[in-house]
Amino acid sequence: MACMKNNSYDCLLIVDFGSQVTQLIARRLRELNVYCEIHPYQNVNQNLLKRLSPKAIILSGGPDSVTRDGSPRAHDLVYNMGVPILGICYGQQVMMHQLGGEVKSGTGTSEFGKAFVEKKNSSDLLEGWFDIEKEQVWMSHGDHVSKIAPGFEVFGTSPNAPYAIIGDEKRHFYAVQFHPEVHHTPKGRIMFENFISIANIKKTWTMDAYKEIAIKKIRKQVGSKKVICGLSGGVDSSVAAALIHEAIGDQLTCVFVDHGLLRQGEANEVISMFRDNYNIPLIHADESDLFLNELDGQSDPETKRKIIGRLFVNVFQKYANKIENAEFLAQGTLYPDVIESVSFKGGPSVTIKSHHNVGGLPEKMGLKLLEPLRELFKDEVRALGQELKLPKEFIGRHPFPGPGLAIRCPGKITRDKLEILRQADAVYIDQIRKHGLYDEIWQAFAAILPVRTVGVMGDGRTYDYACTLRAVTSVDGMTADYYPFNHEFLGETATRIINEVEGINRVTYDITSKPPGTIEWE
Ligand code: XMP
Repeated sequence: MACMKNNSYDCLLIVDFGSQVTQLIARRLRELNVYCEIHPYQNVNQNLLKRLSPKAIILSGGPDSVTRDGSPRAHDLVYNMGVPILGICYGQQVMMHQLGGEVKSGTGTSEFGKAFVEKKNSSDLLEGWFDIEKEQVWMSHGDHVSKIAPGFEVFGTSPNAPYAIIGDEKRHFYAVQFHPEVHHTPKGRIMFENFISIANIKKTWTMDAYKEIAIKKIRKQVGSKKVICGLSGGVDSSVAAALIHEAIGDQLTCVFVDHGLLRQGEANEVISMFRDNYNIPLIHADESDLFLNELDGQSDPETKRKIIGRLFVNVFQKYANKIENAEFLAQGTLYPDVIESVSFKGGPSVTIKSHHNVGGLPEKMGLKLLEPLRELFKDEVRALGQELKLPKEFIGRHPFPGPGLAIRCPGKITRDKLEILRQADAVYIDQIRKHGLYDEIWQAFAAILPVRTVGVMGDGRTYDYACTLRAVTSVDGMTADYYPFNHEFLGETATRIINEVEGINRVTYDITSKPPGTIEWE
C-alpha cells in the first residue's frame, strides 16, 4: 500500500521481507478492523516511521537466509520505537539475529507444512490459544533460531523448532517460527487479536475507509491523465471501473469488448449499468462477427483460447487508440492472480489452460498499469463493490471465463450452437435462482455437447444436441466439488430445458470434482 498516514486510525506497520503470504497478514488484520500498511523493508527508514508512527510492527516472512551476507534487515529504529513487534518466520530470525540471538541454516531442522506446537509458558500473546496442549500451525522454514536473544523466553516448541513461539514480555517483542496468517494455522486469528490488544490498537478500520484511501491513491497516481479500463462484465473489472470512476470521473473511459460469446442478455446488462446508470464513458466494441468468423470450424480448446486472446488484444488496442492521451490501463487484478503469476514464473507448474487475459497489452501500447484491487481477495472485492453501491445481484455473480461460451461448446463452434447454449444456460440459472441456490454455488453453467442424440417428443423422433449442467462448490476455483442437487431439482430443470429450448433433447449432470476434472469443459 502506498504511504498514506491517516490520522483517524491507529496504524500497524508490516515490514515486508518478500514472503508470498505477506498480503495475508494484511488481510487477517483487515478482518479484525485494523488499519495496516505494508512497506518493503528497504523503504522502512526514519522518515517513514515518523510519518506513520505505527502503534505496532509486524516483520513478515521472506525467502532469504539471515546467515547470508547482504540479506535483508529491519532498520535498527524499528526496535527502538517502544512499540510491540511480532516477527514471523524470516521476521523471527532477523529479529533474533539483530537483537543478539543466533540463526543457523541447513542442519536438518527445516519444516514444511503442518506441525504441532506444544505449550511451554504462558504469554499474553497466547491468551485462549492453547485450549489443548498442542496447537496446529503451518511451518515453512529452512533456517531456524539456534539461540534466543537476551530478554526472550520460550512460550511454545515444536519437534523441529525449539523456539517456535518466543517473546520478551517487558518490551512486548514476540516472534514465531510458523505462519499465523495462513489458513492452516487455525488459531492464527487469535494470535493477531492478542497482539492487537497488547498494542492497544483501535479496531475501527472498515471497507468504506479502504475505499476512501484507495480513491486518494488513484488520484495521486493518475493526476490529470486519462485511464482506459477493459470491462468484461465480471465482478473484478466492474468494481475496478466503479472505483476509478469515483476517483477520477470522466478521465476514465471503459472499453467493453463484445466477442459474441457472452451469456443471454449480458452485453445489454453491462452497457445499461455502466453507461446508463453510472454515466461512465463506455465504448461498446461489438466485434462478434470478427471473433465468430475466426473461430468458425475450430475445435481445439487451446486454439480457441489463443484466437480469442489475440483478437481481444487487437480489438482492445484499436478502440483504446481512439482515446487521446491515455496513459494508464486499468485492470481488475486481484491478489491471488499476483501470487499465481509470481509462482508461475519461478515454479515448475505446467500450463493446464492458458487463461485468456490482457497480459502484454500495457507494454505493447506503452501504457502504465493501474491495478487498484491488487491487494484484495475476491470476497473483499465484493465488499468493496457493495460500498460502491453496485447492485447486489451483480456483485454476487458467479465467475465467468474470458473466452466465454467458446469453452462451453466443445467441438466446433457455430452460431446456432451458441444460441442453443445461451438459452439452456439461462433456463438453468433461472432454476437455480428460483430454488434459492445461487449463492450456495461457486459457479454454475451449461455446456452444449458435440453429440446429437435420438429422442421422442410427442409422437415424433428428435435428433438434437445433448447438454450438460455443471455446478461446483469451491473456495478459489483451484479445487472444486460438484454441487449435490436433489433429484427433484435436476428432473425439473431437465424437463424445463427440453421443453423450452429447441435443439436440445437430452440433459446430463456432471458430477466430476476438480481434480481430476477442471471446472470448465475445455
Ligand atoms: P478450470 O476450468 O481451469 O477453471 O477449472 C477455473 C476457473 O477459471 C475460469 N477459467 C478461465 N477464466 N480465462 C479466464 O478468464 C480462461 O481461459 C479460463 N478458463 C477457465 C473458470 O470459469 C473457473 O472459474
